[in-house]
Amino acid sequence: MSQSDGRKTIVLTGASRGIGHATVKRFSREGWRVITCSRQAFAENCPWPAGPEDHIKVDLADPEDVGLAVSEIRHRIEAEGGQLQALVNNAGISPKLPEGGRMNSFDTPMHVWRDVFQVNFFAPIMLARGLFKELAAARGSIVNVTSIAGTRVHPFAGTAYATSKAALGSLTREMAADFGPHGIRVNAIAPGEIDTAILSPGTDKIVETIPLRRLGSTAEVADIIYFLCSGQSSYVSGAEIHINGGQHV
Ligand SMILES: NC(=O)c1ccc[n+]([C@@H]2O[C@H](COP(=O)([O-])OP(=O)(O)OC[C@H]3O[C@@H](n4cnc5c(N)ncnc54)[C@H](OP(=O)(O)O)[C@@H]3O)[C@@H](O)[C@H]2O)c1
Repeated sequence: MSQSDGRKTIVLTGASRGIGHATVKRFSREGWRVITCSRQAFAENCPWPAGPEDHIKVDLADPEDVGLAVSEIRHRIEAEGGQLQALVNNAGISPKLPEGGRMNSFDTPMHVWRDVFQVNFFAPIMLARGLFKELAAARGSIVNVTSIAGTRVHPFAGTAYATSKAALGSLTREMAADFGPHGIRVNAIAPGEIDTAILSPGTDKIVETIPLRRLGSTAEVADIIYFLCSGQSSYVSGAEIHINGGQHV
């Protein structure tokens, strides 16, 4: 089906697991074309209805590779009318110490800082700028996935991770101001403790202090991402929505 048939397109990074996996399922269910980006090659046994033409193999830690991916995405979208309704910057890395502990400001090696900032912060701005024309053509929506760790010290999330997410939250605000006049909304979601592989052992202790007393599910996060890319949020821009069962209070 082509975009002239009214099908919307989303570019989603980090679709292979966790929150990204739930998000691709949510958008597919609503009939969107989902272009996924991750380091893995296209899986022939892909669990949602997509072909290799909807997957881009890219290492977001490599700026050159991100540039190539942007060209490739633009090329693939062009074939269907050059419009992009949504970009979701979901891929993220959160390096930990061997036992899952927090990497602090004293010991985190500089190469780890650089990798974390490249994947969590620079890749989102490179993708957003690179796909600006297509997003503007569709009056599209950008969602950046930040974290509760961006606004408070977390027992397991490292310093580089936390500061990269704080920077991404701030970038969301700046981009909302810059992209808004072109009809593009830019928002962030800040998950708390969501049931995925990124969590460290010991998270069950944190859960005891969360007002809702449970982990969030990836589907609950995907629902809010979908809301922010849908017409139901047409006057929401520059927001960062907490998805954390009340953990931030
Ligand atoms: N889970 C939580 O509780 C939680 C809380 C707060 C914020 N978040 C944020 O939510 C987002 C998703 O988290 P998650 O828990 O679903 O993570 P996850 O299960 O660890 O999945 C991370 C995704 O990012 C992709 N990715 C990682 N490095 C990449 C790279 N260099 N290039 C391309 N893709 C890369 C992975 O794909 P490949 O390995 O296939 O490349 C994978 O699909 C992240 O931004 C995370 O910081 C999560």
